Amino acid sequence: MERVLFITGMGCEKCEAKVKAALEAVPGVSKAVVSRVAAKAVVTYDGTATDEQLVAAVSALEHYPVSGILDGNLRPESMERITTPALAEAFIDAQVDLLRKQIGDGSVLLALSGGVDSSVVAALLIKAVGKQLTAIHVNHGLMRKGESQQVIDVFEKQLGANLIYVDATDRFLDKLAGVAEPESKRKIIGAEFIKVFDEEAAKLSGIGFLGQGTIYPDILESKDGIKAHHNVGGLPDEVKLELVEPLKLLFKDEVRMVGAALGLPDSMVNRQPFPGPGLGVRCVGAITRDRLEAVRESDAILREEFAKAGLDKKVWQYFTVVPDFKATGIKDGKRAFEWICIIRAINTRDAMSASIERLDWDFLEKVADRITHEVPGITRCVYDVTKKPTATIEYE
Ligand code: XMP
Repeated sequence: MERVLFITGMGCEKCEAKVKAALEAVPGVSKAVVSRVAAKAVVTYDGTATDEQLVAAVSALEHYPVSGILDGNLRPESMERITTPALAEAFIDAQVDLLRKQIGDGSVLLALSGGVDSSVVAALLIKAVGKQLTAIHVNHGLMRKGESQQVIDVFEKQLGANLIYVDATDRFLDKLAGVAEPESKRKIIGAEFIKVFDEEAAKLSGIGFLGQGTIYPDILESKDGIKAHHNVGGLPDEVKLELVEPLKLLFKDEVRMVGAALGLPDSMVNRQPFPGPGLGVRCVGAITRDRLEAVRESDAILREEFAKAGLDKKVWQYFTVVPDFKATGIKDGKRAFEWICIIRAINTRDAMSASIERLDWDFLEKVADRITHEVPGITRCVYDVTKKPTATIEYE
């Protein structure tokens, strides 16, 4: 369990050390991470100490007033929303200080999907502890075009991270071969991901910490019982890793602001939502390599055209879907019996309901022309005009 004490008056390292010693002397407290930059102490304890005991331990030192104490998973009301680069910089400075103190000279492991949250955690950890971070990127073969390469370019080449890149495409696609039922597909992808990650983690030694891209909505949803927020928890029980969750009190827009301030590319920071099972849920039915490639290529064309038209900044989510279903057409003057590509573009606030983006007709025709001429296996495009509900945003 975690309590956070908001403490003023700490002006030097000695002050931090005094507060740390006082808190760690309270029965049941296993660790106190104290930062004068962040003006707080994060206390890990077994729940036996009362708030009064924790506050009293610091107050007894006399020089460091405690202005508040909170559950470590609660966002304080006084916490300003990070809306400017300056506020993002201040957050980064405070977190880097806290991370260094939490991790010390230990080693951290992180599953880096390339999504906004894990990317921002990775960049923060690199800034705080550099090579003490080992990031594992598992390419399950269901990534969008260029995504895994971008993870390598940004984190290994530009930021110099310790990155383990695992191309597990064949493993995933072999396991998924012939499986058409959506939930079975999801389960296979989730279970295989944990297996690959665990196998790679088992090759490392001396890891004491596990980084996670938990954000505040995950905490709120897990409090409400909507979902479990520790979504990478596949490590064996005997491996007791301390969690490192520097974004857990931030909302998504704040995470993006922090990512931009850390110098991550715009295409990574402002990425549209992308499901964990990736293109797997957009290659409807049993996944085949050729149809998966058709999803990936058509998605790349759609994204390129959205960016060219400036629609990427306006529309919440847009993608293509290629179901296991064919229709007749004509290609190179001959009858062709090929797949149909569905284009979907929606707007929403919370993904619970969604409206359709009324795309310009000429734009849609242009996209359809490109997809049918450039993507092998597709002769026809359709635009999905169904709201959520009744449709869900994704197809599986
Ligand atoms: P649906 O299809 O349920 O999607 O209307 C709502 C939002 O959630 C995303 N989504 C997922 N995200 N893992 C994720 O991380 C998943 O399995 C998953 N399924 C759907 C979807 O892209 C949309 O933004």
